[in-house]
Amino acid sequence: MTPLEQAARAAQHAPSVFNTQPWNWRITGEAMELFADPQRRVDSIDRDGRLLLLSCGAALHHARTYLAAAGWSVTVARLPDPGRSDLLARITIGHPIPPDPEATRMAASISRRRTDRRAFGDRPVTDFELTKLRRFVESEGAYLHTVRPDQIAMLAVSTEVAAGAELDDPAYRADLHQWTSRPGYTGDGVPPATAVKPELRRVPVRDFFPDATAQLDAGAAHDQGAAYVVLFGNGDQPIDLLRGGEALSALLLLATADGLATAPLSDAVEAEWPRHLLRGLVADIGEPYLVVRLGYRQDREPVPAAPRRDLRDVIIITK
Ligand SMILES: Cc1cc2nc3c(=O)[nH]c(=O)nc-3n(C[C@H](O)[C@H](O)[C@H](O)COP(=O)(O)O)c2cc1C
Repeated sequence: MTPLEQAARAAQHAPSVFNTQPWNWRITGEAMELFADPQRRVDSIDRDGRLLLLSCGAALHHARTYLAAAGWSVTVARLPDPGRSDLLARITIGHPIPPDPEATRMAASISRRRTDRRAFGDRPVTDFELTKLRRFVESEGAYLHTVRPDQIAMLAVSTEVAAGAELDDPAYRADLHQWTSRPGYTGDGVPPATAVKPELRRVPVRDFFPDATAQLDAGAAHDQGAAYVVLFGNGDQPIDLLRGGEALSALLLLATADGLATAPLSDAVEAEWPRHLLRGLVADIGEPYLVVRLGYRQDREPVPAAPRRDLRDVIIITK
């Protein structure tokens, strides 16, 4: 397998909204191209494709991280063809270089990282760790705001009201059903084994199974030590969201490498009005992309891995 094929394989582990994995790769000679798959967009909550672009950005960063760790120089062109909005990026491989030690650490987290929807324990995430994560996110062109204790109630209410409004929408219910009842061969969607039963939480976690068939218990902890961070950027053009997704991947991989459990929360950014409230949380200086809960897990048992699409459906190799 060539380094580019291995990079596309590594990218398959990237997180994505509803585990839609809305991307494809085309590998030709020295280049790999990342395409968005709009058919995999979750229309009821993502008509403008923000979450799809964040997900594709995360896949792009996974591929970049793999190649940097494997010791390859690359050039990355984002949205290289103005006539083709589905062509999100082209990575061209260069010459061998010494492996980047930080990328090596993060690449080791690629297959270990999982969205953990259970409650995290009392051990707090330190300011030192949050500063490190913030700097890393900034090196990827986005920003991180740690939600202050006096802002948690606002985040909780925005998330709860946004989630409630979505559950009242038949189109959302239909999307939820579609992406939580996938036949095994599709290798996508959110299975009950990775979803958490609804419980009172500091900030609500998405209820993927309103019919009460989620299998994970939130556990004995109460997210007391959890940090809630808002990933935000300068705008919401496709290039901003793609970069935002790369920053999301950087955040999740570094956090995982440092022993933190992570869980993205996007309910509050999916509709304009709660997103407006989140803009207030970041003092109106940027566009909120996503909330992430970070913490130390009480339960040492890892959550089951979410399925992944067959690589033969995702990677096209042409001469
Ligand atoms: C843009 C984006 C939004 C997401 N929103 C949520 C969310 O609101 N709630 C949630 O529990 N997980 C959310 N996730 C996590 C995905 O559901 C998860 O990545 C996917 O199911 C694959 O599982 P894994 O992360 O364990 O590999 C989101 C992920 C991304 C990239």
